[in-house]
Amino acid sequence: MSVIENSKVTIVGAGSVGASAAYAALIRGSARHVALYDIATAKVEAEVLDLSHGTQFIGASEITGGSDISVVEGSHVVVITAGAKQKPGQTRIELAGVNAGILRTMMPQLLEVAPNAIYVIVTNPCDVLTVLAQEATGLPPERLFASGTVLDTSRLRWQLARRAGVSTSSVHAYIVGEHGDTEFPLWSRATIGTVPILDWVTPRGDRMTVEELDAIAVDVRDAAYKVIEGKGATNYAIGLSSARIIEAILGDQHAVLPVSPVLHDFHGVDGVALSVPCIVDASGAVPIRETRFDDRELDLFQNSAAALAEIAASLR
Ligand code: 2OP
Repeated sequence: MSVIENSKVTIVGAGSVGASAAYAALIRGSARHVALYDIATAKVEAEVLDLSHGTQFIGASEITGGSDISVVEGSHVVVITAGAKQKPGQTRIELAGVNAGILRTMMPQLLEVAPNAIYVIVTNPCDVLTVLAQEATGLPPERLFASGTVLDTSRLRWQLARRAGVSTSSVHAYIVGEHGDTEFPLWSRATIGTVPILDWVTPRGDRMTVEELDAIAVDVRDAAYKVIEGKGATNYAIGLSSARIIEAILGDQHAVLPVSPVLHDFHGVDGVALSVPCIVDASGAVPIRETRFDDRELDLFQNSAAALAEIAASLR
C-alpha cells in the first residue's frame, strides 16, 4: 500500500506486541514514519536498530525511537501497548490494576507531546483501560479507543473461511463486546458473501450447524490462552490488527472495524468501552448506531457492559 505522506504513528511499548506492531506497520507501509517509544532504553534502542537494518526491504517508511518521550512528538496516531502481559492461564482482567497505574502515569506525558493524536489502547484489559484513560484525559470518545475485537474478529473470520472454503475477506462476521472472556459473535448479522452463515453450503456439500458455530466462538474467545500457553505471549496478530487500525485512521478510510470506544446511550450501554462496528477514519472511531442485535445478543452485550463497568469502578 502506498505510504500516507507525512503520517506518523508512535507505538508505545517495545515489548513483543509493540515491536510486532511496529514491524507490521513498516511492512504494510501503514505510515510514513513509525516511532517506537519505551522507558527501557536498551530494549527500545535495540528494537529500533534491528528494524532499521531491514530498511532496504520496506517501502518509504522510516523507523525511529528511543526512551526520550520527545520521540512521540508530532504523532498523528499513538498506539499504547506498554504494560504487564498475561501469564499462562491469567485473564486479561487480572492485569487491570497494574496496567491502569501505568496508563495513568503515561497518558498526561503523552498528551503533552502529542496533544492532537488519536490514541489506540492495546494494553489489556484494553476496554477497561480505555474508560479510565478517557476519564483521565477528557479526550472525546472518538479520539481514544481500544483495539478491542479487531483481533478476535480476524480469528473468527479465519476459522469460518477455512470451514466455508472462501477467502477471509468474503466472511462478514464480527466479534463484539469485551476483548476478553465475555466477547461473542454477532451471528444474527453474519454472512458469507450475501448468504446468511447458516445457509452457506460448504465445499463438503454440508452446512455449518449452530453447535459448530458455538464451538468456533469458544475457540476464538480462548485463542489467546492457547497461544500464550505455548509461546508466552501473542504478538503477530495483534501487531497486524494494530497496523490495520493505524491505516484506517491515517488513510481517512471510513473503514468499518470493531474497535472499542466509550459508548454512550448505545443499546442500553453508557460509559463503558466495548467493541461494536465503528467507522474508523482520520477523526477516530464512531460507533455505528444502526448496528442490530437479536434479543440474546443484546443480553450478552449488556451483561458484558455490566461486568466491565464493575471492574472500572473498582479501579477508580
Ligand atoms: C490477545 O487476544 C492477549 O489480548 C491479547 O491475543
